[in-house]
Amino acid sequence: MTEILLLICAYLIGSIATAVWVSKGVFGIDIREHGSGNAGATNTFRVLGPKAGTFVMLIDMVKGILAVRLALLVPFYQDPENIVKLVNLQIGLGLAAVIGHIFPIFAGFRGGKGIATVFGMVLAIQPVVALCCVGVFLMILFLTRYVSLSSIVASIALPILVLFIFNERELYYRIFAIAVALMVVLTHQKNIARLINGNESKVPLFKNKRV
Ligand code: G3P
Repeated sequence: MTEILLLICAYLIGSIATAVWVSKGVFGIDIREHGSGNAGATNTFRVLGPKAGTFVMLIDMVKGILAVRLALLVPFYQDPENIVKLVNLQIGLGLAAVIGHIFPIFAGFRGGKGIATVFGMVLAIQPVVALCCVGVFLMILFLTRYVSLSSIVASIALPILVLFIFNERELYYRIFAIAVALMVVLTHQKNIARLINGNESKVPLFKNKRV
């Protein structure tokens, strides 16, 4: 019962529709009607500028961290003997927050693609792996200037890192890493189509001045 309540709380935390609320509350527009139409940090950067984009990114990331941290509220899971159950619960809570971010109850179930919240979640569960994924993300971003492609490649790097580099034996970590990668690929279907068609937008900050 406690676990179900925690999962609902995690979903509600994930449902905090940062991009939608900032765009409507501060700028008087709905971010979902502008740019890529995505209620996430990238589109907020694109449409409303770096300050708003950074704010949305940080809050969306914190949602993932907070959701995972909810597990610490239950004394049962603090017993070292229950470490496996603790991690299982943390993974469930993180995924619930990501689902909340993608389908927020507070914003008509039209949210973002989950990248910042996924990052917060992975950071809270496996910080070293999360930082490696950031490295992959930044490298692809530097090379291509596509945030979407960087997000997709970094998310695919997650199960590769977990399974083959960190050689993680625990089944729940493996399932979690694969599930996250699948979720990110699914939420980026439109981006993948635009990348294939050559009309995906690039990060303006990295634009060559002569372009
Ligand atoms: O975090 C989402 C990002 O990967 C793509 O966003 O707005 O370019 O569809 P966007």
